[in-house]
Amino acid sequence: MARKLNLILLGAPGAGKGTQAELISERYSIPAISTGQIIRDEIASGSALGETVKSYTSKGELVPDSVVIDIIKARLAKDDCANGFILDGFPRTVPQAAALDEMGVEITDVISIEVADEDIMTRMGGRRYCKKCGATYHVKYKPSAAGDKCQNCGEELSIRPDDDPEVVKSRLVVYHEQTEPLKDFYEKKGLLKIVIGQEKLEDTTALTAAALEG
Ligand code: AP5
Repeated sequence: MARKLNLILLGAPGAGKGTQAELISERYSIPAISTGQIIRDEIASGSALGETVKSYTSKGELVPDSVVIDIIKARLAKDDCANGFILDGFPRTVPQAAALDEMGVEITDVISIEVADEDIMTRMGGRRYCKKCGATYHVKYKPSAAGDKCQNCGEELSIRPDDDPEVVKSRLVVYHEQTEPLKDFYEKKGLLKIVIGQEKLEDTTALTAAALEG
């Protein structure tokens, strides 16, 4: 039987965390939890919380720690996390990582997917996204089999508002200032593994699998 995996995926916006999380989720039969996706769903629902968080995401800023910590606490308490989980996009600040420790959540692995900022700027221009089911595509590297519609649910594909190049630049600044220090945080715990993101998606997948199995 495969070992239990309580995995954190770190990496800049567009590094490929969501793409790898989906594949690892299938392989290990554990949920991939994306705080970004939970936030986008909340915005789409038109709730008061959605309105509040939209004012941060639209500028490429982080949503306040207290909001995302509450989201993660509720999500990790669900039954499907009992046999492991993948955190994609959480923690993103040192206080968020400390909150996980305070909750008594045991992390088994931390993988940081590393891609140069210039490559991220180019890559983000080609990302397409399904508002209905959350699936992510790329016009060149991961096209939908259904053209400009989602191959899972048939919805018309969209461009994420925060993939505007100016917003991506801000997200990269935020990543380097607030999220990158987490590599040190988890290195000190002996949990950090680095995967250099490759141009071909399947090459990154092979390196990620090796990091988990090695
Ligand atoms: P979130 O949705 O988490 O955005 P992100 O971390 O910026 O990451 P992305 O989803 O943009 O990229 P990804 O690394 O998953 O890459 P993907 O696999 O899609 O968060 C959005 C916002 O919510 C944040 O800005 C913040 O405001 C807020 N938020 C979320 N969590 C928060 C938290 N914990 N605290 C505070 N605020 C929070 O890949 C990108 C593209 O490249 C795709 O098109 C993909 O097909 C393609 N691709 C992937 N891998 C490869 C490859 N190897 N080669 C070529 N193309 C590839």
